[in-house]
Formats: sequence, C-alpha cells, structure tokens
Amino acid sequence: MGGRVLSVASECVPLVKTGGLADVVGALPAALGAVGWDMRVLIPAYRDLAAQAKSWPVVFEEPDLWGGKGRVLAGEVAGVSLLLLDAPHLYDREGGPYSSNKGEHPDNAIRFAALSWVAARIAREGLVAREGLAGWKPDVLHAHDWQAGFAPAYLAYHGNGGVKSVLTIHNIAFQGWAPAQMLGVLRLPGHAFHSEALEYFGGISSLKAGLVTADRITTVSPSYAAELMRPEFGMGLQGVIAARGAVVTGILNGVDTGVWDPGAEDPPFGARAVAGKAVARARLFEEFALEVPGPLAIVVSRLTDQKGIDLLPAVVPDLVAGGGGLIVLGSGDPAMEGAMRALAARFPGRVAVKIGYDEALSHRLFAGADAVLVPSRFEPCGLTQMYGLRYGTLPVVSLVGGLADTVIGVSPATLATNAANGVTFHPVDAMALRQALAKLLDLYRQPKLWAKVRANAMTHPVGWETSAAAYAGLYDGLIA
Ligand code: ADP
Ligand code: GLC
Repeated sequence: MGGRVLSVASECVPLVKTGGLADVVGALPAALGAVGWDMRVLIPAYRDLAAQAKSWPVVFEEPDLWGGKGRVLAGEVAGVSLLLLDAPHLYDREGGPYSSNKGEHPDNAIRFAALSWVAARIAREGLVAREGLAGWKPDVLHAHDWQAGFAPAYLAYHGNGGVKSVLTIHNIAFQGWAPAQMLGVLRLPGHAFHSEALEYFGGISSLKAGLVTADRITTVSPSYAAELMRPEFGMGLQGVIAARGAVVTGILNGVDTGVWDPGAEDPPFGARAVAGKAVARARLFEEFALEVPGPLAIVVSRLTDQKGIDLLPAVVPDLVAGGGGLIVLGSGDPAMEGAMRALAARFPGRVAVKIGYDEALSHRLFAGADAVLVPSRFEPCGLTQMYGLRYGTLPVVSLVGGLADTVIGVSPATLATNAANGVTFHPVDAMALRQALAKLLDLYRQPKLWAKVRANAMTHPVGWETSAAAYAGLYDGLIA
C-alpha cells in the first residue's frame, strides 16, 4: 500500500546524536522508502542546525510556541528529508540537545512539548504549499521516545485530522516527567488528568501520555516488548504498557549496512576474506601500545549503569590472565570513567581506554577487535552487538532485550547447527560475565571453531529489510 509518514524525534544521524535513537531515526527513511513509505523527519533546529538550514524554505509556521514563534524549515541531508523546527527561544542553546555544562535545560518539558505540538499540527493540517513547493500531509505520525510523547496526545485531545499515530519506545528509562500544575501550560485537558490517562505519580509523563493515546505502540525488539510489561524492566510503566498489550509490538532495529560495511574499511575484509581483519588488529596494537596474545575485546558505549560497565573491573583481571586484552571507548558517569582509566593503568599493554566520542575510532575498533562486550542490565535493542556480528567481532552479551534477539550463544547444540554467533550470559552479574569471558578465551584457543562462529556472525542478517517490512505492515494496517 504505502503512504506518507511524519517521524518526530529529538535526534537524527548525521545531524545530532547522543545514542542509538539517532541512528535509527536517521536510517528509517531510506529503509521505509524502499517499501513504499515516504518518511520525513521533524527534529528541533538546535544551534548548529539552525545555522546550516538558514537558506531552507519555510514550510510551516506556528505563532504561539511558548514565548516565541516557530518556523519549520525543509531540506535534505544525507538523503534524509528533514523538517527542522526553528524556535530560537527554545533551541538556540549552548551544549547538547538536552543539557549544557550547567546541567539539564530547566524547560525541557516545554522544549519537547513544542516539538510535539508542531508535529501534531503538521499531521493535522499538512505543510503549506507555496511557489515551487507542493504541500505534504502525512497519513501516519510516528513519535519516538518521551521527547515526542505528547504528539499522539495532542492528536487525541485537539483533533487528529484523520491521521494515525505510532509511538516507539527506544528506552523506557527516560519518561519526561513534569509537575501537575503544568497541565494547562502544556495544553493538555484537565479531564484527562487521572490515572487511566495522563496522571503519572502525581504529575505528567510525556511518555505515558504517548502510551495511552497512540494508536499503536512499538519498541525496538520483541524481547524488550515482552520485558516492558514486567516490573523489573517497565520502570513504573509496566502496567500502562500491559493494559495496551493488544497494540504493542516489538520490531528489531537494523543497522545501516552502508555505514557499517567491513568491505569499506581499510583494509577491507569480509566473511570469505578475513585477512584484512588481522591487519586492522595489528594496527590497533600499535595505536594503543598493546601486546595481546589472546582475544582483543572492545567496549564502545555510553558508560552508564544500563550498560553494566561497573561489572568490568571485577572481570578484566581474569580476561588479562587468560591472555586477553581490552580497549574501552566511551564516556558518561565520571566514576565509571575513572574505573576504566584505573584498569588501563593497572594493565599497561593489555588494557587501553579512550574517554570520549569518536566515530572513526569506533570503526577501527570493530574492524580490528576479536570480541565486543555488551553486558547490559537492560537493552531495548542495542546496535553495537550487531556491528560486532557484521565485522566478525564476536559479541559477548547479557541475555536481555535486543541482545537476546540477535546473539546466539555458543553451546554444543548451536555449534552443531551452525547457529552460534557469539557468547551469551545470564544473570547480569560479574560471575556470569566472568564465565562468558572464560568461554570466549576457550573458543579462541580452538581456531577452527572460532573461524566457524565468526563466519556465522558475519553472515547473520543485521540490515533493515525485515524490520522495514514490519513497519510498513504496521502503517498499512493502520490506514487500511
Ligand atoms: P544506546 O542508544 O543505549 O546508547 P545503542 O547500542 O543503541 O545504545 O547505540 C549506541 C550508538 O552510539 C552506537 O552507534 C555506538 O556505536 C555509538 N557510540 C556509543 N558510544 C560511542 C563512542 N564513545 N564513540 C563512538 N560511538 C559511540
Ligand atoms: C536506546 C536503547 C538502545 C537502542 C536505541 C535505538 O538508546 O538504549 O538499546 O538500540 O535506543 O533504538
């Protein structure tokens, strides 16, 4: 069938990224375009973006956006059709999308309500047609995470103009809470302030608002969809999600196989020609002054509690004793950054750490390493384990969320059926992770077996095809 969809989010690659949300929002338009859905992406025009979009045409205006005007500028970047919401009083700020070095922006509830308000208006009314520009009205509004959670609510409470809505949960840990007194300010109706609708722990959560009003709810893996209905993972919203269970689906993320392509690395390699990987490994040893006889593992991650980074200090000594090494690339929690630095200081030549964000280095790491560690406590989908699969860098993952849906751990049965593509462990604690690393070391001592698992990993499909078809099916069903 096909149609038009307005995707609304706070991040989109290549313009602005703090995590996998941006990768997914940036990859969906091409993936869905291939199956007949014309997707445009609305994000705020943060300071740098507004400067880039200066000459873009204005395709929508909102005179009353919480203390100033908003204008929507249309343009294309890296093949993505973008709509940038330019509202300097909200988005022309120092720092990242949510915070500056002084902390979170105090008006985040309003900044993202404004994004959602304009999204709902565009959905309802369509973009303006003007000289040289056709109008454009979506059939579906697709909102991502708490930042866009009010968009389905505005459609539900202010009229939807025939447009259907989808809300995707990328991470339930962020829920967009605001105090109850803000209900009117946020343009939400008093009659909906009760526990079955907007009220959440005495206040308002933009994520809950989206969950109770969207026509469909998705999350980024089938396992996470099931986990979210349980208290250990639902973070307070489990009941809300379970109550809407009939419209909840899990659709696994893909990765952009054009960007994550071992055949495009230097030197190139692939499932049937892995020699280049050994060269990349040797170069990493040089770059980081390492000498590692066994498997070289990497971590490329936000350094947070979600990612289980705090488990590493307890297990790295055993990895090193078994001949392995580790390079950590990431930033986040200052205590975890310190702990990673301490590991590097304790094991010179075996462990190296780079605190920061470095896209080019992350490619070199996936190309040259033997394994990628993802010991997350919860993981809605996770992308780095899929980069690992594609690059033959065996994922060592906890069995949660999207990790459980993409990695098949080595065992006699999975080896016999050529299914094994990594190492999995559960529960998420140091003892289980230590055992997983012992398995990895053991596998590395059996080169034939290692090569087999690596080949399984590299041929495991991680592209967008299947998931794009699933989203298209969901949209088609909504507008049928
Ligand atoms: P999350 O969104 O929870 O952080 P994902 O695995 O979905 O986790 O996505 C993280 C994305 O950010 C991946 O593309 C990963 O490669 C990238 N990334 C995380 N930390 C770094 C870093 N320090 N340098 C480069 N890329 C990073
Ligand atoms: C969130 C999740 C991550 C997921 C990403 C993209 O950041 O933490 O697991 O891959 O969103 O959906």
